[in-house]
Amino acid sequence: MTAHYLFVTICVALSLLACFANAQLSPNFYARSCPRLQLIVRDAMRQAVNGEARIGASILRLFFHDCFVNGCDASLLLDDTGTFTGEKNAFPNKNSARGFQVIDTIKTRVEAACNATVSCADILALAARDGVVLLGGPSWTVPLGRRDARTASQSAANAQLPSPFANLTTLTSQFAAKGLSARDMTALSGGHTIGLARCTTFRTRIYNETNIDPNFATTRRATCQASGGDDNLAPLDSQTSNRFDNSYYRDLVARRGLLHSDQELFNGASQDALVRTYSNKIAAFALDFAAAMVKMSKITPLTGTNGEIRGNCRVVNSP
Ligand code: HEM
Ligand SMILES: *[C@@H]1O[C@H](CO)[C@@H](O)[C@H](O)[C@H]1NC(C)=O
Ligand SMILES: *[C@@H]1O[C@H](CO)[C@@H](O)[C@H](O)[C@H]1NC(C)=O
Ligand SMILES: *[C@@H]1O[C@H](CO)[C@@H](O)[C@H](O)[C@H]1NC(C)=O
Repeated sequence: MTAHYLFVTICVALSLLACFANAQLSPNFYARSCPRLQLIVRDAMRQAVNGEARIGASILRLFFHDCFVNGCDASLLLDDTGTFTGEKNAFPNKNSARGFQVIDTIKTRVEAACNATVSCADILALAARDGVVLLGGPSWTVPLGRRDARTASQSAANAQLPSPFANLTTLTSQFAAKGLSARDMTALSGGHTIGLARCTTFRTRIYNETNIDPNFATTRRATCQASGGDDNLAPLDSQTSNRFDNSYYRDLVARRGLLHSDQELFNGASQDALVRTYSNKIAAFALDFAAAMVKMSKITPLTGTNGEIRGNCRVVNSP
């Protein structure tokens, strides 16, 4: 069997979309054009996480929300203007997406080292990985060579980013629409082992649901009243929200998932066994999470001469 034939066979097995999307990304993309890139990103992320551990979580979420809307193309980073509607004010992002200033800081330093060379999309991909590592999570090699979008889509952000009120069927099909399996989805949801959520996203769960540890519900109600205080925060991982470990899955097994969507992964259906496995075997989770992050990072990137290398991550280059 020739190498080419083998490649095509593997591509068909993995689905053509995934294969072609990956074809032009490479971990060495900036090896010559910006050799210090990864050090610059890592140092800036270390400073940011030392200042506020939650930043690691916030940047991971930005990357997820970027990739799920027309691919990992930094569309999420574009600011709204009088004549441009971006994704920042889409429902899943408004009043909760954060960490944009950290990306600006990194971009400024990267531009100083290698002007007009590295995309905002690649900076976000590296920063998300580093945030996870700095909080004690697994590492992975980030494929690079993405370019930045000149457009964004608020309507796609509203339609395609999963809701905390969604059921397992809806969540599974939203991930499938991005080429991600149910297993990828359950591993990626482990991102909720770090970070915080607003009361408005979990109020119904702690007041009105039955598949919840009653002590946990009582504890959460203390800072999330039946009405008011919508922006009050609670940890997505009840034990160690600044540590990237597997305690999120132990919470799910104990019916202490914070979001309705979290608990859907352990509610007597298809993902229960995998959640149990991750709750017992941190190495299995770490391996699957890293692999799924690489897969997510390859969702329909702009490559070659498509898109652009933005000079400022918040605005498209002038024509
Ligand atoms: C499975 C579907 C998912 C749903 C429904 C969901 C929903 C949410 C919600 C509602 C919040 C809180 C936002 C707020 O306070 O308004 C949140 C936070 C967060 N999500 Fe997800 N999420 C999902 C998957 C993911 C994935 C795949 C990742 C990353 C791999 C991720 C990473 C995070 C992180 C790190 C935070 C905390 C951010 C911070 O503290 O700033 N989520 N998510
Ligand atoms: C950086 O690149 C941009 C776009 O090519 C250019 O306009 C700018 O002058 C360059 N800045 C420096 C300091 O070289
Ligand atoms: C899941 O939610 C969707 C959309 O709200 C709904 O149409 C569907 O019936 C629900 N499925 C189950 C199994 O509850
Ligand atoms: C709980 O359910 C009841 C009955 O459907 C509803 O009136 C109430 O607003 C709900 N409370 C919350 C916090 O979702």
